[in-house]
Amino acid sequence: MKKATIITYGCAMNVNESAKIRKLLENMGYEVIDNIHESDAVFLNTCTVREGAATQIYGKLGELKHIKETKKENMIIGVTGCFAQEQGEELANKFKQIDIVMGNQNIGKIPQAIEDIESGNFKHVIFTGDEDELPPRIDADFGDKVVASIPITYGCNNFCTYCIVPYVRGRERSVPLEQVVSEAKEYLLEKGYKEILLLGQNVNSYGNDFDNGDNFAKLLTELCKIEGEFIIRFISPHPRDFTDEVIEVIANNPKIARSIHLPLQSGSNETLKAMNRGYTKDEYIALAMKIKNKIPDVSLTTDIIVGFPGETEENFLDTLDVVERVKYDSSFMFMYSIRKGTKAADMPNQLDDETKKERLQRLIELQNKISKELSQEYLGKKLRIFVEGPSKKNKDVLSGRTSSNKIVLFEGDKELEGKFVDVEITETKTWTIYGKLV
Ligand code: 5AD
Ligand code: SF4
Repeated sequence: MKKATIITYGCAMNVNESAKIRKLLENMGYEVIDNIHESDAVFLNTCTVREGAATQIYGKLGELKHIKETKKENMIIGVTGCFAQEQGEELANKFKQIDIVMGNQNIGKIPQAIEDIESGNFKHVIFTGDEDELPPRIDADFGDKVVASIPITYGCNNFCTYCIVPYVRGRERSVPLEQVVSEAKEYLLEKGYKEILLLGQNVNSYGNDFDNGDNFAKLLTELCKIEGEFIIRFISPHPRDFTDEVIEVIANNPKIARSIHLPLQSGSNETLKAMNRGYTKDEYIALAMKIKNKIPDVSLTTDIIVGFPGETEENFLDTLDVVERVKYDSSFMFMYSIRKGTKAADMPNQLDDETKKERLQRLIELQNKISKELSQEYLGKKLRIFVEGPSKKNKDVLSGRTSSNKIVLFEGDKELEGKFVDVEITETKTWTIYGKLV
């Protein structure tokens, strides 16, 4: 049996697309493993959102070249994902060991591409077009059998000035509501998944390209009507597009996760404007407070960039101020990195690495302090959690997740795996909390 390895970089969208690539390869008779040395085909599903990604990919390509030259001369090397989409043909010209360069939209054509290479008719197959179309639906299974992700929009129209995504993933297009609902039903009711993760660059502008009135609030409402106990999450909403209607729907539907990812990026009005984010510091804080008021048990998480071009110490202090006031459970914190072709790349006053590193460090320290404090608030609470299985570190205890996305460790029978149970929290650490069954 032929073997294949898929290596995934980047975001949840890539994880979703890797699962689809896996299914396509399995349907072609490949056994998908996790070992590039033993593989007849290796796919790198790449990311390009920040600088570091390319370096990692180049390293892996070097490794693969060596394997191909020394022991697996017929190995098929494919590069998919955002970096492939961005680089296109250039990538195959630069690295002769690559056989397939496939953009995000085109992964459905992988079987054809493999056949073309194997038949010897083509030296390389490069496919990076169609970025403004809705890709065909491809079936997928997800490793843990708990969380199934469903893209609801592709592409992005926001053009935040730091971000490369609109250039590689094309204009925003939404998946028809009936299709999302039927996919969700298949995962929940037929395949037994317990959590649906809705994906999009800007999920709450879902449906803006429809003329039938379907929107994100309606999509959530329809998904909640599916019978059974399960959780719906979504990443990521844009603060500018977060309607009261959506807040209302979440507040009224316990099936929707009590954790919302609300990317801040910066707390400074000046920086937000330069980033083209479409909201001010005060508007953001007001939204976060409104969400917390209407959905009292919600936890918030965020993305923050430090060291955007021109960011002053004072601007940065505004970011710290928002973090202090909103109190995120956790944050994804990044140093700004230049993406060629974006507006910010050409802005004057690019900051030096020292300044960026120093600000990142201060931000991380503040966030850790807050995460720890928030964790302590769980003490004594009774919560419903989903039991995912034995804890990775200690097989004798079970690991579960709250609707607010907090990991809970507790003692219990293995039989509980895959079920929802009630626990009382007895001890807290920064990232993990401990409980007992009630
Ligand atoms: N530099 C640093 N971080 C970035 N992000 C996007 N583009 C850049 C960039 N050029 C971050 C944003 C986004 C997350 C996915 O990655 O915070 O929300
Ligand atoms: Fe995901 Fe953006 Fe990276 Fe593409 S560039 S993989 S959309 S994070």
